[in-house]
Amino acid sequence: MSTREQFQRPHLWYRDAVIYEVHVRAFADSNGDGIGDFPGLTSRLDYLQQLGINTIWLLPFYPSPLLDDGYDISDYYDVHPNYGTLDDFKTFLSAAHERGMFVITELVINHTSDQHPWFQRARRAAPGSAERDFYVWSSTDDRFQDVRIIFQDTETSNWAWDSESESYYWHRFFSHQPDLNWESPLVREAVIGVLDFWLDLGVDALRLDAIPYLHVQEGTNGENLPQTHEELRRLRAHVDASYGDRVLLAEANQWPQDAVAYFGDGDECHMSYHFPLMPRLYLALEHGNRLPIIEIMEQTPEIPAGAQWAIFLRNHDELTLEMVTEEERDLMWDTYAPDHRARLNLGIRRRLAPLVENDRRRLELLMSLLLSLAGTPVLYYGDEIGMGDDISLADRDSVRTPMQWNSGHNAGFSKAAPQSLYLPVVADPPFDYKMVNVEAQEDDPHSLLTWLKQMIRRRSRHLVFGRGSIRFLEPANTHVLVYLREGEGETILVLANLSEQAQSVELDLSAFSGFHLVDVIGTARLPVIDERLCSLSLDPYATLWLSIDANQGDK
Ligand code: GLC
Ligand code: CA
Repeated sequence: MSTREQFQRPHLWYRDAVIYEVHVRAFADSNGDGIGDFPGLTSRLDYLQQLGINTIWLLPFYPSPLLDDGYDISDYYDVHPNYGTLDDFKTFLSAAHERGMFVITELVINHTSDQHPWFQRARRAAPGSAERDFYVWSSTDDRFQDVRIIFQDTETSNWAWDSESESYYWHRFFSHQPDLNWESPLVREAVIGVLDFWLDLGVDALRLDAIPYLHVQEGTNGENLPQTHEELRRLRAHVDASYGDRVLLAEANQWPQDAVAYFGDGDECHMSYHFPLMPRLYLALEHGNRLPIIEIMEQTPEIPAGAQWAIFLRNHDELTLEMVTEEERDLMWDTYAPDHRARLNLGIRRRLAPLVENDRRRLELLMSLLLSLAGTPVLYYGDEIGMGDDISLADRDSVRTPMQWNSGHNAGFSKAAPQSLYLPVVADPPFDYKMVNVEAQEDDPHSLLTWLKQMIRRRSRHLVFGRGSIRFLEPANTHVLVYLREGEGETILVLANLSEQAQSVELDLSAFSGFHLVDVIGTARLPVIDERLCSLSLDPYATLWLSIDANQGDK
């Protein structure tokens, strides 16, 4: 019997989820070759369960030349030998499911590696043949001039010359990643085959990498084309008909209006990242003012029933500054990446803790926003212990160093000789593994890890965070962000002081007159709500989660 029959996914599981993003190679090395692997990851599931997350998003682990950390796939149907075998993956998946945890894998269908047999076959095939048409070819490199270059620090054109076929091929990312030709019905069919393979194995959700770029068309910028949305409707219809409870997550780095389109009318993706919100959390913190957050949320349309934003502070890529104005980008760079080596393409290749100068108050503030704003939170591995980065490493490897488990050999990540690790462990203070590691924080009631575990538990006790509506209140003091989360029979009032000074706000809560405010996080003594303005004060960078209850209930 396949996992498909055995594993029950609760309705709307993805809206109640807390997602943990991790690369297999970075987490735990079981066989001492210096590279993390599936048996290692499986052996650390207890840690993830105790952290309180219930969904694991795995970065690509398929056979690949690894020139883009596996986003350059050369075989969609197997596991890269560095990380184990397909059986190791299956063991991992059932171990996760046994714990009631869900697994998201990557479906990279905009491009393949140039080493993929489809490309090798295409470059040798006759022009115009079905095999050739798996990719996008041209005799000149001047078509699709209106399409931007994404990896602008490495690439100068979206066309690359192939001497074998004596032709140019199209690529939106690195030149070793030729784009699949979505005009070809055979490409569509092939992709359905890949999707079925992983969903049949029991994978719970698929992240659709670089999805806005599937189709390209002369005279357009090659993003969000109607034909691309049509492909998504086809994929979704197939998933619904054959699997029902599985989820599609769109990676569409777009303005709210265009990002919302990836939900369709509830007939495209279930989830989509809120890219524009992310930099604005940092901007709001820098300004000590809620406006950047309020403005972007006001521009964010309602989403269809059942749809859900995925929200995040950091991920495996550079902190993208594509969805901000030029002024905002310069401010972000000046503030958060004064060292130019930390800048990459239109972004910042640093981790969360270094971005906020390891300031515990700002870390907690950002994390509590992540856990209480509307959407499903995505945590990036290592950020739960405040791991640092290493900008001496190339490209985005700066934020992809080994997980820091303890203060021992290689931070407990691997028994290999340090020089054979896939990347070095962060060893420079203040983020060195001797100081920053899981073991040191697990037993410390005051550590970031302990704090975050408690916060995740609090969030998970209140379904309203994943499912409820959000309504922003606008008290005169703009240093404080205030919102109401409502639904599932509860109302929670969230306040966040974005500034480095103590602040107070006066809120009109008369609609809840007679109700009690109950502190969900701390022990604040709170008034019974009446017709008068309710005055609340917050320490620098402090957050309050206050449940509005008819009865003074227990926490
Ligand atoms: C996505 C991935 C990124 C990768 C790119 C090309 O943006 O997040 O890591 O390099 O796609 O596949
Ligand atoms: Ca290994």
